[in-house]
Amino acid sequence: MVADSTESGTDQYYRDHALAYAESTLGVDMSEIYGRFLGYLPRSAKILDAGSGSGRDTLAFKNLGYNVDAFDASPALCAFSTQLTGVPARVITFQDFESEPVYGGIWACASLLHVQADELADAICRLVHALKPEGALYMSFKHGSGERLSADGRFYLDMNGDRLRAVVNDVADAHLSEIWVSHGEGSRRGQDAWLNAILVRT
Ligand SMILES: C[S@@+](CC[C@H](N)C(=O)[O-])C[C@H]1O[C@@H](n2cnc3c(N)ncnc32)[C@H](O)[C@@H]1O
Repeated sequence: MVADSTESGTDQYYRDHALAYAESTLGVDMSEIYGRFLGYLPRSAKILDAGSGSGRDTLAFKNLGYNVDAFDASPALCAFSTQLTGVPARVITFQDFESEPVYGGIWACASLLHVQADELADAICRLVHALKPEGALYMSFKHGSGERLSADGRFYLDMNGDRLRAVVNDVADAHLSEIWVSHGEGSRRGQDAWLNAILVRT
C-alpha cells in the first residue's frame, strides 16, 4: 500500500509493521496493572480498550469475564485484534472518538502517547465523557518531558507527573486518583520507564 498525504509517520509505522508489532507485544505481562485498574471497577463493568493494538488486553479482560469494546487508529491492527479476540475492534482515532457514558473502565495503555500535546486534553475529555460516574480511565506514557520522533518515525509525547497534572486540570468532571512510574519487564515491556495514571470520573 502507498501512504496517503495525510498519513503520519505513526500511522505508517503501524500499517507497515502491524503483524511484527502485534506479535512482539502479545506476550507482555500486564497483570500487575490489570489488578490496579480492575480494582476500580464493578464486576459488571463494560471496558473500552482505547488504542487496543494487538488486542492483548481486550482478550485478557474478555477472558476475565468483562464485556469489552475496542478501538484503534490502525486498520491493520484492528483486523489483527478482531481475529485474535473475537471482539470487533473499531477503526477510529482518539481525536474523533465519541460515546455515551456507558463504560465502567477505559484502558488506554501506551496509546495516548502518540497524541500531539495540544490535542491531549481534548482526547482525555472524550474518554472521560464515555465513562459512567465513578468510572476509571487508565493511561500510560513513556516517562519524560518532551515531544519527539523516534528513529522508526513514530511521534511520542513523553510525560511526567507535573505535565500530566497540568493537562488533567483542563479536564472537567474527573480527578487524578493515582500516578506512578514503573520500569522494566515485570510491569511493562523493555527497560523504559513508564508514567501510569488512573483518572476517576466524578
Ligand atoms: C504503542 S501501541 C500500544 C498498543 C496497545 N495498547 C498495547 O499496550 O500493546 C500504540 C497504539 O495506539 C494506536 N494509535 C496511535 N495513534 C492513535 C490515535 N490517534 N487514535 C487511536 N489510536 C492510536 C496505534 O495504532 C497503536 O495500536
